[in-house]
Amino acid sequence: MSTRFPNGKRVIIVGATSSIAGSLARIYAQQGWSLGLTGRNEERLKCLEKELSSNTITQLMDLDDSALARTSFEALAEKMSYVDLVIIAAGTGHIDPELPWEKELETIRTNVEGFAAIAHAAMTLFERQGYGHLAAISSIAGIRGGSAPAYCASKAFVSNYLQGLRHRAYRSGKPIHVTDISPGFVDTPMAQGDGLFWVASPEKAARQIHDALERRMMHAYITRRWRLIAWILKLLPESAYLRLF
Ligand SMILES: NC(=O)c1ccc[n+]([C@@H]2O[C@H](COP(=O)([O-])OP(=O)(O)OC[C@H]3O[C@@H](n4cnc5c(N)ncnc54)[C@H](OP(=O)(O)O)[C@@H]3O)[C@@H](O)[C@H]2O)c1
Repeated sequence: MSTRFPNGKRVIIVGATSSIAGSLARIYAQQGWSLGLTGRNEERLKCLEKELSSNTITQLMDLDDSALARTSFEALAEKMSYVDLVIIAAGTGHIDPELPWEKELETIRTNVEGFAAIAHAAMTLFERQGYGHLAAISSIAGIRGGSAPAYCASKAFVSNYLQGLRHRAYRSGKPIHVTDISPGFVDTPMAQGDGLFWVASPEKAARQIHDALERRMMHAYITRRWRLIAWILKLLPESAYLRLF
């Protein structure tokens, strides 16, 4: 059954209860978009739905069960009839000196399997529609391995998978766009560890992400000056990287 949304732009935000995605949802709501929001915390999801316009529907979704998450995504997309933009923001990560396998596995399940299940479902939807824009939040941490091995590796997967989907979209000749969003540090529960710098507020990060999506950028660093750090990280020899980070 489709929902009675006004004609106009429609966005699905996966992990809308995240600090960054919540700020993004507010921007799109203010601009008159219709929103399909997913999250695994029902209470926070309902709060967001209440706060935003009446053109918002919500769907519980836990990426740890990728098959169920995919089915939920498809059901939400069907309710919305068509979708212009899908933003995947949900993600997890742990810095734990003990490196417990359970936490590593949780990160891989959510950030790799869960992410890919939704990115693939979004791409399938856009290919059927003939147009669309997929964006997902990776991280600067995906450039090199670091103190959270599964997190860094999972974010490298996100960037690489998006690149593959962009390649596919380009070859299809259809107006399908793919944006990789790589934040540095943003002031949210995810920003853990010592030595944080250039920490942006979730609101500022959301404004810059929105701007990058408007411009259909292929890859955006958030905030913009993290491009410099990315450049250094890519160039540093391994021995220097081990000493410095
Ligand atoms: N903050 C940073 O410095 C930073 C830097 C680079 C990249 N990022 C990325 O930015 C994205 C948004 O994170 P944030 O910084 O806004 O932090 P956040 O507020 O802690 O948001 C993380 C979100 O992911 C959701 N999530 C975690 N595991 C999930 C699962 N299995 N299924 C569904 N949802 C799940 C959380 O849901 P619950 O609310 O239910 O826990 C929460 O909404 C993440 O992908 C993160 O890796 C953040």
